[in-house]
Amino acid sequence: MFPEHRPRRLRTTPAMRRLVSETTLRPRQLILPLFVAEGASQPRPISSMPGVVQHTRDTLRKAAVEAVEAGVGGLMLFGVPETRDAEGSAATDPDGILNVALRDLRAELGDSTVLMADTCLDEFTDHGHCGVLDASGVVDNDATLERYADMAVAQAEAGAHLLGPSGMMDGQVGVIRRALDDAGYTDTGILAYSAKYASAFYGPFREAVDSQLQGDRNTYQQDPGNAREALREIELDVAEGADAVMVKPALAYLDVVRAAAEASPVPVAAYNISGEYAMVEGAAANGWIERERTILEVLTSIRRAGADLILTYWAAEAAAWLD
Ligand code: PBG
Repeated sequence: MFPEHRPRRLRTTPAMRRLVSETTLRPRQLILPLFVAEGASQPRPISSMPGVVQHTRDTLRKAAVEAVEAGVGGLMLFGVPETRDAEGSAATDPDGILNVALRDLRAELGDSTVLMADTCLDEFTDHGHCGVLDASGVVDNDATLERYADMAVAQAEAGAHLLGPSGMMDGQVGVIRRALDDAGYTDTGILAYSAKYASAFYGPFREAVDSQLQGDRNTYQQDPGNAREALREIELDVAEGADAVMVKPALAYLDVVRAAAEASPVPVAAYNISGEYAMVEGAAANGWIERERTILEVLTSIRRAGADLILTYWAAEAAAWLD
C-alpha cells in the first residue's frame, strides 16, 4: 500500500507529460538579436559566438526574413560602424549603419514583425562607453541623455517599432519617451533594459561589436549582488513610460527575472546573452552536453522563471524546432 502518493503517475507517457506541462515555449516569445557591419562585403564570423556573424546589409535582410518565416516574435538590431568618435556620431546619423539597416528591414518586412534597435552609444564611441564622457573621463549621465534623445528619434524615423535603451543612464526612458512624442512618434515603444548587470558574460558581445572598451561599466550597470535595486530600476522605468522591461543577463539572474515578473505591470523580457550562448556552444562542440536539449532547457527555464519574452541568438533555430 506504500507509497500513498505517486507523482510519477503524471510522468508515465509523453502524452501525460504534455498534458500537465506548466511552461510554454513558443516561437513568438523569442527575439533574435542581429549584428550588421558597415562596409562588410561578406558576413564576418564572431569566433566566440560560433554560428553568429556580423552581417552585410544583404545577408542581414536574408537572415531577418528567414527568422520571421520561422516565426520569431521580433528582431533586435545592433550596428557595427566603420568609424567611431567620442560622441558616437554614427548613432544619430541617418546614414549611420544601424539606421540604414533599420530602414532596409522595415522596407523588407513592414509590420510583419516587431523591429527593435539597441539605443545605446557603446557600439559607436571610440572609448566604448555607453555614454559620452565628462572632462575627467567619467560617463556624463545628463549629457548622454541628449544623445539618446536624438538617437531614439533617428531610429524611430528609420522604422524601428520598439527601442531598446541599454545604457543604464538615469532618466533615459523618460527622456526618450518625451523626444519620441515631441517628434510625433507616439506609437514607437520602449523596451527598457531596466535591470542590467555589470556582467562578465558580455565578453563575446564585445567581439561581436568590435567594442573599444577599456575598463568596466561599474558606474552605470548594476552590481551582480543586488536584487532589490533591480525592482527600483523597473519601477522607475515603468513610471517614465517603458512599454516593456528587461532583465539582463538571464541565467545567472533567474531570481531577478522571477521578482520582475511578479512586480511588473508590463511585459518582462530576459536577455539570454552572448556568454550564455558561448558556454553552451563551447560545451556542445566538445561533446560534453547535448546541444538541442540544452538550448531548449535553457529557454524553458527562462520562461519558467517568468519572462514573457526571451532575446536569444538561438531564436530562429529554436523557433524552427518548436514549430
Ligand atoms: C550595450 C549592450 C551590451 C549587450 C547588449 N547591449 C553590452 C554591454 O552592456 O556591455 C550585451 C549582449 C550580449 O552580451 O549578448 N549596447
